[in-house]
Amino acid sequence: MSFIVAIDGPAGAGKGTITKLVGEKLGLVNIDTGATFRCVALNMLQEHIDIQEEEKIEKMLNNINIEMHTDGKIFLNGEDVTHRIRENDVNGLVSPVSTLPVVRNKLLEVQRNIAKGKNVIMEGRDIGTVVFPNADVKIYLDAAAEERARRRVLQNQEKGIESSYEEVLKGIKDRDKRDSTREIAPLKKAEDAMYVDSTNLSIEQVVNQIVKIIENNKK
Ligand code: DC
Repeated sequence: MSFIVAIDGPAGAGKGTITKLVGEKLGLVNIDTGATFRCVALNMLQEHIDIQEEEKIEKMLNNINIEMHTDGKIFLNGEDVTHRIRENDVNGLVSPVSTLPVVRNKLLEVQRNIAKGKNVIMEGRDIGTVVFPNADVKIYLDAAAEERARRRVLQNQEKGIESSYEEVLKGIKDRDKRDSTREIAPLKKAEDAMYVDSTNLSIEQVVNQIVKIIENNKK
């Protein structure tokens, strides 16, 4: 038996930070499903496979091995790619790759297997709607696009990357549109998910709110 907490929501709502902190507090294994899509995009780059080459993608997926270790490290076919999958070339390819049915089907299996027999907190876009529709707790973590853009600009500054607020905001709005209007597994709140708006909350306040929701649902 496993206990599953699903955390869905748009890019920049704080899912990564919050999931990690809540997982540590409650002893749940933290699974970032975005990283699995990033591994597929990276594998395509490594093998010089184009997004249109469906047969080659299918073949690649038949041999792919993605491992998520409890220390947060991610391995693609035996290689540590924890940092590599956050680089720009992967950022640019991952969103279109995540719309491919062949990729989503394969990763559905991978994501369900990673969680098997464990108590997990899993973040993504379709965890409460598609991957684990019977999850014990479902949270939809949101924030206003303007606030998400503000946070992203600050993050970039910390990394020494200069970016304009207007451009970042436009990028976020475009991504929201693409993620929520795609045909398969679009980003949307599951009917039975609790809605948490982090726009005006600190990280600590969001963590406390989510911990409370999870504890109220533990029998
Ligand atoms: O959360 P992230 O930015 O690492 O996600 C990378 C991409 O993968 C993002 O464009 C949306 C997609 N994704 C998805 O379609 N379904 C998920 N469960 C997780 C991520």
